[in-house]
Amino acid sequence: MFSLVGKTALVTGAGSGIGAAIAQTLASAGAHVVVADVNEVGGSQTVAVIQGAGGSAEFTLLDITSESACQELSRKLLPRLGPLDILVNNAGIGHVGTLLTTAGADFDRVLSVNVRGTFNVTQAFLPAMVERGRGSVINLASAAGLEGLKDRFAYATSKHAVVGMTRCAALDYAKSGVRINCLCPGRVETPFVKSRLAEYPDREAAYQDMCSTQANGRMGRPEEVAALALYLAADESSFVTGAALAIDGGMTAGSGRF
Ligand SMILES: NC(=O)c1ccc[n+]([C@@H]2O[C@H](COP(=O)([O-])OP(=O)(O)OC[C@H]3O[C@@H](n4cnc5c(N)ncnc54)[C@H](O)[C@@H]3O)[C@@H](O)[C@H]2O)c1
Repeated sequence: MFSLVGKTALVTGAGSGIGAAIAQTLASAGAHVVVADVNEVGGSQTVAVIQGAGGSAEFTLLDITSESACQELSRKLLPRLGPLDILVNNAGIGHVGTLLTTAGADFDRVLSVNVRGTFNVTQAFLPAMVERGRGSVINLASAAGLEGLKDRFAYATSKHAVVGMTRCAALDYAKSGVRINCLCPGRVETPFVKSRLAEYPDREAAYQDMCSTQANGRMGRPEEVAALALYLAADESSFVTGAALAIDGGMTAGSGRF
């Protein structure tokens, strides 16, 4: 089950955290993985881990906020690798703040990576997938794309947009054979979350607070999210499109107050 032998995947933000785990999981299932990141050190490390385990991967430097860089990458990869089988739009950034404490420049920055970046990469690679008539696009949204989150105004707004982009694009291309879904993780222990913790004066209290927002009382692990990405990447999920799948330890199941 879940063999990706002979398939090609591009994973953005695969130099760290969830993206690195997804790249490794897809590669261990047999896919050739293009690891794309602005962070060359992290990306090369992911490639080294994959190759060390006998998998196939290559690194490419990519800033997903650049539309021209995304188009150029597609022009570079398609002649050699053919249309992607799997596109994982994972790269994303966080931000702490309310509507009134979020600077306009920060709001733009968060949306330019999380929303415009996802748009840029998908626009560059989707046409070849549609033309061939198959493929799986997996966007990393968030539980904060399904429900509001206090003090994460820009981030949660951007992730609501990713859920919307996923659903709209899935409808537009449902008959093409390309499936488009998103994952909505609760808190997952990655450098992303660690950098958020560093913004709090009492890190231990903030850590416990982050754990307590999941109904099961802990954060997720990157490989737990990667396992669901593997399912969406594989042909076994052939009837799943337009879905926003929560993987959040019960975070969005209910408030628990009733
Ligand atoms: N960790 C969590 O709790 C959590 C929860 C829900 C959703 N997510 C989402 O999952 C995704 C991955 O999160 P993570 O925790 O692994 O983050 P991370 O910070 O550990 O990794 C993100 C990676 O994206 C790369 N990146 C950032 N901006 C980029 C750009 N412009 N172009 C290319 N690469 C870029 C970074 O260099 C980094 O390697 C994000 O979209 C995030 O919003 C994370």
